[in-house]
Amino acid sequence: MNLHTPRPLATTSLATPIALQTPRLIEFGAGVAPTAGRWAHEHKLARILVVADAFNAKRVDALELNGEVAVFGEVTAEPDVPLLDAGLALARQVKPDLVIGFGGGSAMDLAKLIATLATSSQALQDVVGAEKVSARGSTLMQVPTTSGTGSEAGTRALLIDPATQNKLAVQSRHMLADIAIIDPALTLTLPPAITASTGVDAMAHCVEAFTNKRAHPLIDMYALEGIRLVGRYLARAVADGTDVEARAGLSLASLYGGFCLGPVNTAAGHAVAYPLGTRHHIAHGAANALIFPHTLAFNAPAVPDKTAAVLAALGCKSTSSADEVLVLAHRYCSDLGCEMRLSALNVAREDLPTMASEAHAIRRLLDNNPRDISREQILALYEGAY
Ligand SMILES: NC(=O)c1ccc[n+]([C@@H]2O[C@H](COP(=O)([O-])OP(=O)(O)OC[C@H]3O[C@@H](n4cnc5c(N)ncnc54)[C@H](O)[C@@H]3O)[C@@H](O)[C@H]2O)c1
Ligand SMILES: [Zn+2]
Repeated sequence: MNLHTPRPLATTSLATPIALQTPRLIEFGAGVAPTAGRWAHEHKLARILVVADAFNAKRVDALELNGEVAVFGEVTAEPDVPLLDAGLALARQVKPDLVIGFGGGSAMDLAKLIATLATSSQALQDVVGAEKVSARGSTLMQVPTTSGTGSEAGTRALLIDPATQNKLAVQSRHMLADIAIIDPALTLTLPPAITASTGVDAMAHCVEAFTNKRAHPLIDMYALEGIRLVGRYLARAVADGTDVEARAGLSLASLYGGFCLGPVNTAAGHAVAYPLGTRHHIAHGAANALIFPHTLAFNAPAVPDKTAAVLAALGCKSTSSADEVLVLAHRYCSDLGCEMRLSALNVAREDLPTMASEAHAIRRLLDNNPRDISREQILALYEGAY
């Protein structure tokens, strides 16, 4: 046998090649936010653009930045192309040395795109897809204030195209942060509903990577520990938002979820949830929480052991019976206060077939799913969640 041309493996195994890219420096812990200013000063980055939502734009002081600091504070949940254009217009005036994403996934994703496109000859449509970005113009720092997306540790940014109602995904190693500063104290102000839905989103990243067709032992470790952290701390943080230990547990779970996204990524759960965001403007975390029990149960026959391990890690009864999985995972989310009915979120029943077609077209995620899922089966999931 020629050792240099190993036979391709039918499924992933310990020997399957994989690459995990993470920010060069990750600062973690309660009270590390002011590291932002110190690090920028040490690196002589004096012209700074902070990309934030309205809530975080009011507390940029927490980062203790010096120099010329401009703030693009208009980021809204589920950012779209016109919002990126507004951010790029400001960046072209400011000409920042350093772009800082300060907020949830929406602000951090937008910061990636602004840092990448502001000085580039490439337009957005040139970089949609995998590894199409040729370079990044400025240094990039990410400071998450939700614990859900893990965007601080990843190479991906998602943006809604209002023309098609699709989520455009840009993935590039050039969008990986130079430094991620993860201060759980910044999440203490999150209301219970956003705590719950973003926490389930972090868990969904871990679960969908763990039960993925492309699951890999290198990532399974982060995935399973991320699910355990959510099982241990999410209900605590929802009940008492000032519980710093619980907040730290969720910040870590979110980071681990971010590690899962690059090399493995999500699968049917996120694909089926996407039309809720693009078509009905339901927040990413809330959409994922609503769909999560349905796809976990649907996939259970294909990955029974891992499904049982997910439930055990969440502190539920360990089972792989699809009916029981649905009941247990549903109860887990509804006990956190998540809205679990599409009908309660102003989604018209007549929209479900179009949503099923849109979700079914998201091949980049559905091709990762451990069980093939047809358009009709997606429609049945929506009906079940209605
Ligand atoms: N890059 C990735 O890999 C990735 C992964 C998952 C999701 N996403 C994207 O991230 C976005 C969702 O991000 P998100 O769930 O973090 O929510 P978000 O960034 O949209 O923020 C949700 C809300 O919480 C508020 N908020 C943020 N921090 C707060 C705090 N500490 N206290 C009080 N309020 C606060 C914001 O102002 C906003 O109103 C979506 O666009 C989604 O597509 C990206
Ligand atoms: Zn997500």
